[in-house]
Amino acid sequence: MPEAPGDSLPKVLVIEDDEASRKLLSDLLRKEGYSPILTSDGEEALAWLETHVPDLVFCDLALPRVGGLEVVRRLRHREATRLVPVIVLTGHAELQNKLDALDAGADDFLTKPFNVLEVAARARSLLRNRRLTQALEDAQNVVFALATAIEHKDDYTEGHGERVAVYARSLAEFAGLSPADVQAVHTGGILHDVGKIGCPDAILNKPGPLTPEEFEIIKRHPTDGWEICRHLRSMPHLSLCCIRNHHEKLDGSGYPDGQADGAIPVAVRIMSISDVFDALATARAYKPAFPTDTCFRILREESERGWWDGDLVEKFIAMMRERELDVPVNRAKLEPILPQRAPNGPSPQQVLDVLHKAQRKQ
Ligand SMILES: [Fe+2]
Ligand SMILES: [Fe+2]
Repeated sequence: MPEAPGDSLPKVLVIEDDEASRKLLSDLLRKEGYSPILTSDGEEALAWLETHVPDLVFCDLALPRVGGLEVVRRLRHREATRLVPVIVLTGHAELQNKLDALDAGADDFLTKPFNVLEVAARARSLLRNRRLTQALEDAQNVVFALATAIEHKDDYTEGHGERVAVYARSLAEFAGLSPADVQAVHTGGILHDVGKIGCPDAILNKPGPLTPEEFEIIKRHPTDGWEICRHLRSMPHLSLCCIRNHHEKLDGSGYPDGQADGAIPVAVRIMSISDVFDALATARAYKPAFPTDTCFRILREESERGWWDGDLVEKFIAMMRERELDVPVNRAKLEPILPQRAPNGPSPQQVLDVLHKAQRKQ
């Protein structure tokens, strides 16, 4: 499948076994300033798509070897091509053909013989959307990269987002949330602390308790993170809630909104429990890593205090045991591995006393 010269031009893959239609599309696309890649065969097209990502695809339905619907389905299932616009071509205008093509994931439908002006207009419109989608996708990738970069600022929180995402996703599945909500919780877990980009390193890495002024600065990270992420396309509302409200408590004493009980979605309660567990189970600048049973005990105590959802805490403990995530050697398999326990640190109770005292002062 030779590629036309002009690397910077939008690449349009044409999968069409009728030579006359292929030639017509090729001439038209070149005239419109695009770079057409031509094939008459579904299998050849799929092989090319293994290593290339086009900007637009024209795909005939009746193709040799692999049919057009199957090509469209596979395009949609592959991460790299799932958002590439696809126009399906067919000689038959029956409704069922159109429905099948749309079900497979096609964006548009053209019946042969083509109206040249219509083909050009559809291509322009879908490529315009494609450019917008790519710009937004790039922005999304930047935010995920940002979340990882923030964790690198502090040795103790390396991998925190990934681990919280794994715990929260597992608990969301265990608690019976829908697949879409489970995915939203996972995304929220990775990004929940992205707002810490605005916190000075000296505060993030401070080994002792924070002053009230320093704590006020830390308290901005959920709304800062929400502000960064809320403009991202395809960021589920529930992920945004997880980012903004992961420090709320059921008794209303959390931040930033002081939400209580019914106002806090189950997904967000799951996020808080997962986040607190990871903070307890790993070493931080101000505390050692606590043994798993100690973490479970603390979560139970804090749910009795009115902070966390007691039912979900019990489900979390059951899930951790069932999936053997509570066994340190298994937890260490989580990528990246958990930080080591800080030597000669204070006891769990001493750390909790200091934390609770600091929080009461707020
Ligand atoms: Fe946080
Ligand atoms: Fe966190």
